[in-house]
Amino acid sequence: MPVAKISPSLLSSDFARLAEECQRMVDCGADYLHMDVMDGHFVPNLTMGAPIIKSVRKHTDAFLDCHLMVAEPEKWVKDFADAGASMYTFHIEATDDAGALIDQIHSAGMKAGISVKPKTPVDSVFPYCDKVDQILIMTVEPGFGGQSFMEDMMEKVKTLREKYPNLDIEVDGGLDEKTIGTAAKAGANVIVAGTSIFKAKSSKDMISLLRKHVDDVQKK
Ligand code: DX5
Ligand code: ZN
Repeated sequence: MPVAKISPSLLSSDFARLAEECQRMVDCGADYLHMDVMDGHFVPNLTMGAPIIKSVRKHTDAFLDCHLMVAEPEKWVKDFADAGASMYTFHIEATDDAGALIDQIHSAGMKAGISVKPKTPVDSVFPYCDKVDQILIMTVEPGFGGQSFMEDMMEKVKTLREKYPNLDIEVDGGLDEKTIGTAAKAGANVIVAGTSIFKAKSSKDMISLLRKHVDDVQKK
């Protein structure tokens, strides 16, 4: 299992202070910064686009883990690459040609990820696991922070981990001190968390706690 990477979701941050919130997360030990891009069409919410990523990039060298919850993900690859995105994770449900899209993302100089909604079977991504940099298993319906972790998604994580021992497997939605153990045991190593990290008394302690669970599974 690859090393733990903790990716705080800036969706739970104060958007009016985005650069400071990003820096605060890096100072608290974040490996990635998770940027939730929603288009009001693929999901029933609107958040940010490439111009925001471009502004953030002027203030940080951090790894920008961009989660594109958008229709027609092919359309935004160049804009996100130019804006300084590090990883471009699209939804398998949003494209007819995931293989070509991965090539497009890599050619643009970004890492490529594929995300899977709760109702989508995990075998939909098997054909791409050897060329993609990360698979994101959604543990809530995409669209909003603060929802409850769907434990039944762990079967997907287990299946992927058994088949692909070295793959970065990210989980996103409802990860906190109660659910991290289950996710880590199933084989997830990239942990997205918004509410739990931003609402914690100490974001630094919460990031350490999430990391420790993944590290503990890895040591076994
Ligand atoms: C939901 C987003 C998540 C969200 C997670 O569609 O993809 O990244 O911010 O938020 P929490 O950790 O609050 O469930
Ligand atoms: Zn996300």
